[in-house]
Amino acid sequence: MNGTLKLPAPTWFVGCGNMGGAILDGWRAGGLDLSPVTVIRPSGTPVEGTRTVTGFADAGPPPKLVVLAFKPQKLEEVAPELRKWLSARTVIVSLLAGVEAASLRQRFPGVGAVVRAIPSLPVAVRRGVTGLYSTDAGQQTQQELNDLFSALGFAMWMADESKLAALGSVAGAGPAYVARFVAALTKAGVKRGLTEEIAAVIARETVLGTAWMAATTGEGMESIARRVASPKGTTEAGLAVLDGEGVLDDLIAATINAAFSRGAELAEEARAAVQA
Ligand SMILES: NC(=O)c1ccc[n+]([C@@H]2O[C@H](COP(=O)([O-])OP(=O)(O)OC[C@H]3O[C@@H](n4cnc5c(N)ncnc54)[C@H](OP(=O)(O)O)[C@@H]3O)[C@@H](O)[C@H]2O)c1
Repeated sequence: MNGTLKLPAPTWFVGCGNMGGAILDGWRAGGLDLSPVTVIRPSGTPVEGTRTVTGFADAGPPPKLVVLAFKPQKLEEVAPELRKWLSARTVIVSLLAGVEAASLRQRFPGVGAVVRAIPSLPVAVRRGVTGLYSTDAGQQTQQELNDLFSALGFAMWMADESKLAALGSVAGAGPAYVARFVAALTKAGVKRGLTEEIAAVIARETVLGTAWMAATTGEGMESIARRVASPKGTTEAGLAVLDGEGVLDDLIAATINAAFSRGAELAEEARAAVQA
């Protein structure tokens, strides 16, 4: 991690469950100083390297950066209280899946910038993917956030919210799908007589090794599959099942579509709540 990288002081994390915790884990692992961070969460469960409190009144001076890391369904409850502590000097980074920038801006009208970020859970080990989007963040803010999220893996700014949603449905949700694939590979290994422990390790290492080879050599997935599957061999027989009538492509497309539709529903709920 770039030694000059710093978090704005103060930075507030409002909520710190799976995703907020993963981001802080990644930054901590990269050596970033987390002392500017105050975590505000109802349970008060401590987060290493930060100050953790249960309410805004105990959070200290108004924040320069606020990361919204609670569930989208909590927005109506949190926004009216949080708004009181923010100013034109505050940048909001919202992790809330599906809640559009315009809906956030309506709830936090006076803040300096509203940025949406969709990270994936491997940010915890600095191998995440983060999509960023804003209509009102200045160049310096964009650069600072780009540096902070690039320290957690791969980060990119998206041109519009539909592309951000597309990134979210592939990369944000993706670790869950990859986890299911590895689990299915594991179960198949167990059915062929391997112990659960061995099957789990080799399934995981197979996915890791394949991704690592592609990432480090630039080789495409078509080429990798071709190099593994010799004509009329065992792998080709397996691929015929996965490829047959687009089985895998259709399954993944339906999976991603379902996530994308749920994102659209969440966006609609957030829009409707603002108008109500
Ligand atoms: N998980 C993912 O892979 C993923 C990917 C992309 C985006 N996201 C987004 O990240 C956000 C957080 O998801 P998550 O998976 O981290 O959820 P989570 O594990 O359930 O964590 C939710 C957090 O919100 C806190 N919270 C609940 N009510 C609150 C309140 N009134 N004020 C302040 N904090 C409150 C909880 O505090 P306590 O811990 O004290 O109970 C908890 O820390 C969501 O908006 C989600 O859409 C998640």
